[in-house]
Amino acid sequence: MQAVSTVAEYNAIYTEWTGRTVALVPTMGALHEGHMALIRRAKALADRVVVSIFVNPLQFGPQEDLARYPRPLEQDLSICRDLGVDAVFHPAVSTLYPSGLDKAGLENGTTVLPPALLSERFCGAFRPGHFTGVATVVLKLLNLLRPQIAVFGEKDAQQLKIIQQMVLDLHLPVQIISQPTIREANGLAMSSRNRYLQTEEERQAALCLYQILTQTRAAVAQTDQPLETPGTLRRISEAVLAPWQNTNVSIRIQYLEAVDQESFAPADCLKPGVKLLMAAYVGNVRLIDNMDL
Ligand code: PAJ
Repeated sequence: MQAVSTVAEYNAIYTEWTGRTVALVPTMGALHEGHMALIRRAKALADRVVVSIFVNPLQFGPQEDLARYPRPLEQDLSICRDLGVDAVFHPAVSTLYPSGLDKAGLENGTTVLPPALLSERFCGAFRPGHFTGVATVVLKLLNLLRPQIAVFGEKDAQQLKIIQQMVLDLHLPVQIISQPTIREANGLAMSSRNRYLQTEEERQAALCLYQILTQTRAAVAQTDQPLETPGTLRRISEAVLAPWQNTNVSIRIQYLEAVDQESFAPADCLKPGVKLLMAAYVGNVRLIDNMDL
């Protein structure tokens, strides 16, 4: 496995790969089983796999965790090596942003603006500019690394949708593959941010996302009638959160919404074909999850 940080080094490797199919797995590092599933999928689909590891400043808000985001590079490289990854690309910020970022962390150069209907709702409503940061860095990585295939996780459903839309709208010559969410045995969706959960109590409280999603899915499965969205979601989330009231752990749902699985248009009733999207704070840790009903 070759780990490189410059475009020239990558280009030399890419030339050796002429005639092979290449799959890219873009990541911000701190690799866990979720990332590993993406890498295994990429291995199964292509002759050569490149993993990018880049904590992208443009997708972090000024109050967010850019500075404290975990960066265990050596550990990540050894995970990639063990999985049979062919190349890891871990560029410097100046390599990916040749025009630089300004003092506020915004791009001086060109950015990608995803459609407002996809990027200003759900996570985008609480993280202004986040999806511009994501779409911009993913386009840069696709252009630099030139894979035929790129693999993304369904854990970040809105991100996946925005990237699929960008590939369609900008005619990018890449096939986007999506990989189902990998969870802990207890249902918690794996995330690099789970390591911020400090106490056993917080880790237990973090399960409330999965519980709300699965209990809603079960309620839908139990009836032939479409369930009305806001009332059903309120009832189920209140029941799941009730035991946590008056404890040391604070849980705050930031959003919990139902959308059409394909278009992401709001769904006023809960039925198969609908996707639930949610974000919640457990203490000061922001977690996201989603599930198809
Ligand atoms: P990161 O959070 O490191 O995630 C990298 C990829 O792993 C994403 O496609 C994400 O959806 C997927 N992933 C994360 N947790 C997962 C899980 N539990 N199961 C399945 N897949 C999972 O997402 C990003 O980085 C960045 O926004 C990036 C796309 C790299 C652009 O900077």
